[in-house]
Amino acid sequence: MSRESPPRPRPRRSMLYLPGANARALEKARTLDVDCLIFDLEDSVAPEAKAAAREGIAAALSSGGYGSREVILRTNALDGTWGPDDARLAATAGPDGVLVPKVASRDDVIAARERLSEAGVPQTTPLWVMIETPRAILDCLAIAETAKVPGVGLVGLVLGTNDLAKETGVRLDEGRAPLHAWLSMAVAAARAAGLVVIDGVYNDFRDEAGFRQECREGRRLGMDGKTLIHPGQIAPANEIFAPSQEEIAWAELVVSTFAKPENADKGVVAIEGRMVERLHLEMAERTLAIARVIAERGV
Ligand code: COA
Ligand code: MG
Repeated sequence: MSRESPPRPRPRRSMLYLPGANARALEKARTLDVDCLIFDLEDSVAPEAKAAAREGIAAALSSGGYGSREVILRTNALDGTWGPDDARLAATAGPDGVLVPKVASRDDVIAARERLSEAGVPQTTPLWVMIETPRAILDCLAIAETAKVPGVGLVGLVLGTNDLAKETGVRLDEGRAPLHAWLSMAVAAARAAGLVVIDGVYNDFRDEAGFRQECREGRRLGMDGKTLIHPGQIAPANEIFAPSQEEIAWAELVVSTFAKPENADKGVVAIEGRMVERLHLEMAERTLAIARVIAERGV
Protein backbone atom coordinates (compact mmCIF):
# COMPACT_ATOMS: atom_id res chain seq x y z
CA MET A 1 0.00 0.00 0.00
CA SER A 2 1.39 3.35 -0.97
CA ARG A 3 -1.16 5.35 1.05
CA GLU A 4 -0.03 6.62 4.45
CA SER A 5 -1.99 5.27 7.40
CA PRO A 6 -4.05 7.97 9.18
CA PRO A 7 -2.55 9.62 12.29
CA ARG A 8 -3.40 7.90 15.57
CA PRO A 9 -6.44 9.70 16.96
CA ARG A 10 -6.97 10.42 20.66
CA PRO A 11 -10.49 9.69 21.93
CA ARG A 12 -12.16 12.55 23.80
CA ARG A 13 -15.57 10.96 24.22
CA SER A 14 -15.83 11.81 27.90
CA MET A 15 -14.30 14.84 29.68
CA LEU A 16 -15.21 14.95 33.37
CA TYR A 17 -15.06 18.18 35.39
CA LEU A 18 -13.92 17.85 38.99
CA PRO A 19 -14.01 20.74 41.45
CA GLY A 20 -10.36 21.24 42.41
CA ALA A 21 -11.37 21.67 46.05
CA ASN A 22 -13.06 18.24 46.16
CA ALA A 23 -10.36 15.86 47.45
CA ARG A 24 -12.63 12.84 47.14
CA ALA A 25 -13.31 13.58 43.47
CA LEU A 26 -9.57 13.99 42.73
CA GLU A 27 -8.98 10.62 44.38
CA LYS A 28 -11.88 8.82 42.72
CA ALA A 29 -10.86 10.10 39.28
CA ARG A 30 -7.92 7.65 39.30
CA THR A 31 -10.41 4.78 39.05
CA LEU A 32 -12.82 6.15 36.45
CA ASP A 33 -12.92 4.92 32.82
CA VAL A 34 -12.90 8.44 31.42
CA ASP A 35 -10.91 9.80 28.48
CA CYS A 36 -10.13 13.21 30.02
CA LEU A 37 -10.33 14.89 33.40
CA ILE A 38 -10.76 18.64 33.81
CA PHE A 39 -9.41 19.74 37.19
CA ASP A 40 -11.38 22.91 37.78
CA LEU A 41 -10.23 26.06 39.55
CA GLU A 42 -12.95 28.27 38.08
CA ASP A 43 -16.70 28.24 38.62
CA SER A 44 -17.01 25.05 40.69
CA VAL A 45 -14.57 26.45 43.30
CA ALA A 46 -15.71 29.16 45.74
CA PRO A 47 -13.45 32.24 46.03
CA GLU A 48 -12.33 31.29 49.55
CA ALA A 49 -11.43 27.76 48.39
CA LYS A 50 -9.22 28.73 45.41
CA ALA A 51 -5.93 28.38 47.30
CA ALA A 52 -6.89 25.01 48.81
CA ALA A 53 -8.00 23.81 45.37
CA ARG A 54 -4.59 24.71 43.88
CA GLU A 55 -2.85 22.82 46.68
CA GLY A 56 -5.12 19.80 46.26
CA ILE A 57 -4.52 19.67 42.52
CA ALA A 58 -0.74 20.10 42.94
CA ALA A 59 -0.68 17.21 45.43
CA ALA A 60 -2.89 15.00 43.25
CA LEU A 61 -0.77 15.56 40.14
CA SER A 62 2.51 15.01 41.95
CA SER A 63 1.23 11.69 43.37
CA GLY A 64 0.05 10.72 39.87
CA GLY A 65 -1.94 7.59 39.25
CA TYR A 66 -4.09 9.05 36.45
CA GLY A 67 -2.69 6.62 33.88
CA SER A 68 -3.62 7.35 30.26
CA ARG A 69 -6.36 9.80 31.27
CA GLU A 70 -5.65 13.22 29.81
CA VAL A 71 -5.57 15.73 32.67
CA ILE A 72 -6.53 19.30 31.78
CA LEU A 73 -6.36 22.20 34.23
CA ARG A 74 -9.15 24.77 33.96
CA THR A 75 -7.89 28.10 35.24
CA ASN A 76 -9.75 31.24 36.22
CA ALA A 77 -9.43 34.18 33.83
CA LEU A 78 -5.68 34.63 33.49
CA ASP A 79 -5.95 38.42 33.65
CA GLY A 80 -8.04 38.31 36.85
CA THR A 81 -7.26 38.09 40.58
CA TRP A 82 -6.57 34.36 40.62
CA GLY A 83 -5.01 34.08 37.17
CA PRO A 84 -1.33 34.46 38.06
CA ASP A 85 -1.44 31.77 40.78
CA ASP A 86 -3.39 29.46 38.46
CA ALA A 87 -0.83 29.97 35.70
CA ARG A 88 2.00 29.19 38.13
CA LEU A 89 0.24 25.97 39.10
CA ALA A 90 -0.06 25.08 35.41
CA ALA A 91 3.71 25.60 35.12
CA THR A 92 4.68 23.50 38.15
CA ALA A 93 2.05 20.73 38.09
CA GLY A 94 2.51 19.85 34.40
CA PRO A 95 -1.04 19.00 33.29
CA ASP A 96 -1.63 17.58 29.79
CA GLY A 97 -3.42 20.79 28.82
CA VAL A 98 -4.74 24.10 30.09
CA LEU A 99 -8.35 25.20 29.56
CA VAL A 100 -8.98 28.94 29.71
CA PRO A 101 -12.56 30.15 30.37
CA LYS A 102 -14.63 32.94 28.83
CA VAL A 103 -12.35 34.00 26.01
CA ALA A 104 -14.12 36.54 23.81
CA SER A 105 -11.71 37.23 20.97
CA ARG A 106 -8.60 36.20 19.08
CA ASP A 107 -6.57 38.62 21.22
CA ASP A 108 -7.82 36.94 24.40
CA VAL A 109 -6.45 33.58 23.25
CA ILE A 110 -3.08 35.02 22.27
CA ALA A 111 -2.90 36.92 25.58
CA ALA A 112 -3.77 33.76 27.51
CA ARG A 113 -0.86 31.88 25.93
CA GLU A 114 1.45 34.82 26.68
CA ARG A 115 0.45 34.83 30.36
CA LEU A 116 0.98 31.07 30.58
CA SER A 117 4.39 31.40 28.96
CA GLU A 118 5.37 34.21 31.36
CA ALA A 119 4.45 31.90 34.24
CA GLY A 120 6.69 29.17 32.82
CA VAL A 121 4.14 26.88 31.14
CA PRO A 122 5.95 25.12 28.27
CA GLN A 123 4.78 26.01 24.77
CA THR A 124 4.27 22.31 24.17
CA THR A 125 1.43 22.25 26.73
CA PRO A 126 -1.76 22.24 24.64
CA LEU A 127 -4.20 25.12 25.10
CA TRP A 128 -7.99 24.70 25.15
CA VAL A 129 -10.55 27.51 25.36
CA MET A 130 -14.14 27.70 26.55
CA ILE A 131 -16.68 29.03 24.07
CA GLU A 132 -19.31 30.35 26.44
CA THR A 133 -20.01 34.00 25.76
CA PRO A 134 -22.11 35.58 22.98
CA ARG A 135 -18.99 37.37 21.73
CA ALA A 136 -17.07 34.08 21.53
CA ILE A 137 -19.80 32.52 19.41
CA LEU A 138 -19.83 35.47 17.02
CA ASP A 139 -16.00 35.50 16.85
CA CYS A 140 -15.60 31.75 16.91
CA LEU A 141 -13.67 31.41 13.67
CA ALA A 142 -11.14 34.09 14.65
CA ILE A 143 -10.72 32.37 18.03
CA ALA A 144 -10.28 28.94 16.43
CA GLU A 145 -7.82 30.26 13.85
CA THR A 146 -5.38 31.32 16.57
CA ALA A 147 -4.40 27.65 16.25
CA LYS A 148 -2.38 28.81 13.22
CA VAL A 149 -0.49 31.48 15.17
CA PRO A 150 2.97 30.12 16.01
CA GLY A 151 3.36 29.26 19.69
CA VAL A 152 -0.33 29.49 20.64
CA GLY A 153 -0.82 25.72 20.62
CA LEU A 154 -4.62 25.81 20.60
CA VAL A 155 -6.00 22.26 20.26
CA GLY A 156 -9.67 22.46 21.11
CA LEU A 157 -12.87 24.31 21.89
CA VAL A 158 -15.10 23.36 24.84
CA LEU A 159 -18.68 24.61 24.81
CA GLY A 160 -19.93 26.23 28.00
CA THR A 161 -23.66 25.93 27.51
CA ASN A 162 -24.67 27.04 31.03
CA ASP A 163 -22.80 30.33 30.67
CA LEU A 164 -24.13 30.79 27.15
CA ALA A 165 -27.70 30.40 28.38
CA LYS A 166 -27.02 32.79 31.25
CA GLU A 167 -25.41 35.45 29.06
CA THR A 168 -27.90 35.32 26.21
CA GLY A 169 -31.18 34.67 27.97
CA VAL A 170 -32.10 31.64 25.82
CA ARG A 171 -34.43 29.25 27.62
CA LEU A 172 -33.48 25.57 27.63
CA ASP A 173 -36.54 24.25 29.48
CA GLU A 174 -37.92 22.67 26.29
CA GLY A 175 -34.64 21.30 24.90
CA ARG A 176 -31.53 22.76 23.28
CA ALA A 177 -33.03 23.96 20.00
CA PRO A 178 -32.22 27.60 20.91
CA LEU A 179 -28.52 26.63 21.09
CA HIS A 180 -28.27 24.59 17.90
CA ALA A 181 -27.12 27.36 15.57
CA TRP A 182 -24.38 28.40 18.01
CA LEU A 183 -23.21 24.84 18.64
CA SER A 184 -22.98 24.31 14.88
CA MET A 185 -21.00 27.53 14.43
CA ALA A 186 -18.52 26.30 17.02
CA VAL A 187 -18.21 22.93 15.26
CA ALA A 188 -17.66 24.59 11.87
CA ALA A 189 -15.06 27.00 13.31
CA ALA A 190 -13.26 24.16 15.07
CA ARG A 191 -13.11 22.06 11.91
CA ALA A 192 -12.01 25.00 9.78
CA ALA A 193 -9.00 25.29 12.07
CA GLY A 194 -8.44 21.54 12.56
CA LEU A 195 -9.48 21.57 16.24
CA VAL A 196 -11.26 19.19 18.59
CA VAL A 197 -14.70 20.36 19.77
CA ILE A 198 -16.45 19.16 22.92
CA ASP A 199 -20.10 19.66 23.84
CA GLY A 200 -21.37 21.34 27.03
CA VAL A 201 -22.62 19.62 30.19
CA TYR A 202 -26.00 18.09 31.03
CA ASN A 203 -26.91 19.35 34.49
CA ASP A 204 -29.60 16.82 35.48
CA PHE A 205 -27.08 14.07 36.28
CA ARG A 206 -29.66 11.55 37.54
CA ASP A 207 -31.56 11.64 34.21
CA GLU A 208 -29.72 9.07 32.11
CA ALA A 209 -32.31 8.93 29.32
CA GLY A 210 -32.16 12.71 28.84
CA PHE A 211 -28.36 12.62 28.99
CA ARG A 212 -28.16 9.90 26.33
CA GLN A 213 -30.46 11.86 24.07
CA GLU A 214 -28.28 14.97 24.43
CA CYS A 215 -25.11 12.93 23.72
CA ARG A 216 -26.67 11.58 20.53
CA GLU A 217 -27.68 15.09 19.54
CA GLY A 218 -24.15 16.40 20.19
CA ARG A 219 -22.68 13.61 18.11
CA ARG A 220 -25.05 14.36 15.22
CA LEU A 221 -23.96 18.01 15.42
CA GLY A 222 -20.35 16.85 14.96
CA MET A 223 -18.99 17.06 18.51
CA ASP A 224 -16.04 14.79 19.39
CA GLY A 225 -17.30 14.21 22.91
CA LYS A 226 -19.10 15.69 25.88
CA THR A 227 -18.07 17.46 29.05
CA LEU A 228 -19.50 15.71 32.10
CA ILE A 229 -20.18 16.58 35.72
CA HIS A 230 -20.77 13.18 37.32
CA PRO A 231 -19.17 9.71 37.08
CA GLY A 232 -22.56 8.21 36.16
CA GLN A 233 -22.37 10.07 32.83
CA ILE A 234 -19.07 8.47 31.72
CA ALA A 235 -20.23 5.09 30.41
CA PRO A 236 -23.09 6.47 28.27
CA ALA A 237 -20.82 9.18 26.78
CA ASN A 238 -18.07 6.65 26.02
CA GLU A 239 -20.61 4.42 24.32
CA ILE A 240 -22.41 7.07 22.28
CA PHE A 241 -19.32 8.98 21.09
CA ALA A 242 -17.54 5.77 20.02
CA PRO A 243 -18.19 4.28 16.57
CA SER A 244 -21.05 1.77 16.85
CA GLN A 245 -20.71 -1.86 15.70
CA GLU A 246 -22.75 -0.99 12.58
CA GLU A 247 -20.49 1.97 11.79
CA ILE A 248 -17.39 -0.21 12.21
CA ALA A 249 -18.83 -2.96 9.99
CA TRP A 250 -19.73 -0.43 7.29
CA ALA A 251 -16.30 1.21 7.51
CA GLU A 252 -14.63 -2.21 7.09
CA LEU A 253 -16.78 -2.89 4.05
CA VAL A 254 -15.88 0.47 2.48
CA VAL A 255 -12.15 -0.11 3.09
CA SER A 256 -12.22 -3.69 1.77
CA THR A 257 -14.22 -2.65 -1.32
CA PHE A 258 -11.76 0.08 -2.30
CA ALA A 259 -8.87 -2.34 -1.59
CA LYS A 260 -10.05 -4.73 -4.35
CA PRO A 261 -7.74 -4.60 -7.38
CA GLU A 262 -10.65 -3.88 -9.74
CA ASN A 263 -11.49 -0.73 -7.72
CA ALA A 264 -7.91 0.53 -7.46
CA ASP A 265 -8.43 3.43 -9.85
CA LYS A 266 -12.11 4.07 -9.19
CA GLY A 267 -13.23 7.29 -7.54
CA VAL A 268 -16.70 6.02 -6.81
CA VAL A 269 -18.25 2.58 -6.23
CA ALA A 270 -21.67 1.24 -5.28
CA ILE A 271 -21.98 -0.73 -2.03
CA GLU A 272 -25.33 -2.20 -1.03
CA GLY A 273 -27.15 0.30 -3.20
CA ARG A 274 -25.30 3.35 -1.89
CA MET A 275 -22.87 5.64 -3.66
CA VAL A 276 -19.49 5.54 -1.93
CA GLU A 277 -16.71 7.93 -2.89
CA ARG A 278 -13.10 8.18 -1.80
CA LEU A 279 -14.09 10.84 0.74
CA HIS A 280 -16.14 8.07 2.37
CA LEU A 281 -13.02 5.91 2.38
CA GLU A 282 -11.20 8.61 4.35
CA MET A 283 -14.10 8.76 6.80
CA ALA A 284 -14.10 4.97 7.11
CA GLU A 285 -10.35 4.94 7.82
CA ARG A 286 -10.85 7.56 10.55
CA THR A 287 -13.68 5.52 12.08
CA LEU A 288 -11.53 2.37 12.15
CA ALA A 289 -8.52 4.22 13.57
CA ILE A 290 -10.50 5.61 16.50
CA ALA A 291 -12.27 2.28 17.02
CA ARG A 292 -8.87 0.56 17.27
CA VAL A 293 -7.62 3.00 19.92
CA ILE A 294 -10.83 2.56 21.93
CA ALA A 295 -10.62 -1.24 21.62
CA GLU A 296 -7.03 -1.15 22.91
CA ARG A 297 -8.20 0.82 25.96
CA GLY A 298 -10.84 -1.80 26.62
CA VAL A 299 -13.50 0.76 27.64
N1 COA B 1 -15.66 13.73 39.65
C1 COA B 1 -15.24 12.68 40.38
N2 COA B 1 -16.01 12.06 41.29
C2 COA B 1 -17.25 12.56 41.47
C3 COA B 1 -17.73 13.66 40.75
C4 COA B 1 -16.88 14.27 39.80
N3 COA B 1 -17.27 15.32 39.08
N4 COA B 1 -19.01 13.92 41.13
C5 COA B 1 -19.31 13.00 42.06
N5 COA B 1 -18.26 12.18 42.28
C6 COA B 1 -18.17 11.03 43.17
C7 COA B 1 -18.56 11.38 44.59
O1 COA B 1 -17.42 11.82 45.28
C8 COA B 1 -19.07 10.05 45.08
O2 COA B 1 -17.95 9.21 45.33
P1 COA B 1 -17.99 8.03 46.43
O3 COA B 1 -19.42 7.68 46.66
O4 COA B 1 -17.21 6.93 45.80
O5 COA B 1 -17.31 8.62 47.61
C9 COA B 1 -19.76 9.44 43.87
O6 COA B 1 -19.14 10.09 42.75
C10 COA B 1 -21.25 9.68 43.82
O7 COA B 1 -21.52 11.06 43.93
P2 COA B 1 -22.97 11.59 44.23
O8 COA B 1 -23.26 11.46 45.70
O9 COA B 1 -23.93 10.95 43.31
O10 COA B 1 -22.88 13.11 43.82
P3 COA B 1 -22.67 14.35 44.78
O11 COA B 1 -24.03 14.74 45.32
O12 COA B 1 -21.58 14.08 45.75
O13 COA B 1 -22.15 15.48 43.79
C11 COA B 1 -22.21 17.23 42.20
C12 COA B 1 -22.97 16.04 42.79
C13 COA B 1 -22.97 17.75 40.99
C14 COA B 1 -22.05 18.34 43.23
C15 COA B 1 -20.81 16.71 41.74
O14 COA B 1 -21.04 15.65 40.87
C16 COA B 1 -19.90 17.75 41.13
O15 COA B 1 -19.33 18.56 41.83
N6 COA B 1 -19.70 17.70 39.80
C17 COA B 1 -18.77 18.54 39.10
C18 COA B 1 -19.22 20.00 39.03
C19 COA B 1 -18.27 20.84 38.25
O16 COA B 1 -17.09 20.60 38.21
N7 COA B 1 -18.78 21.89 37.58
C20 COA B 1 -17.99 22.76 36.78
C21 COA B 1 -18.19 22.59 35.33
S1 COA B 1 -19.85 22.75 34.78
MG1 MG C 1 -18.46 28.47 32.32
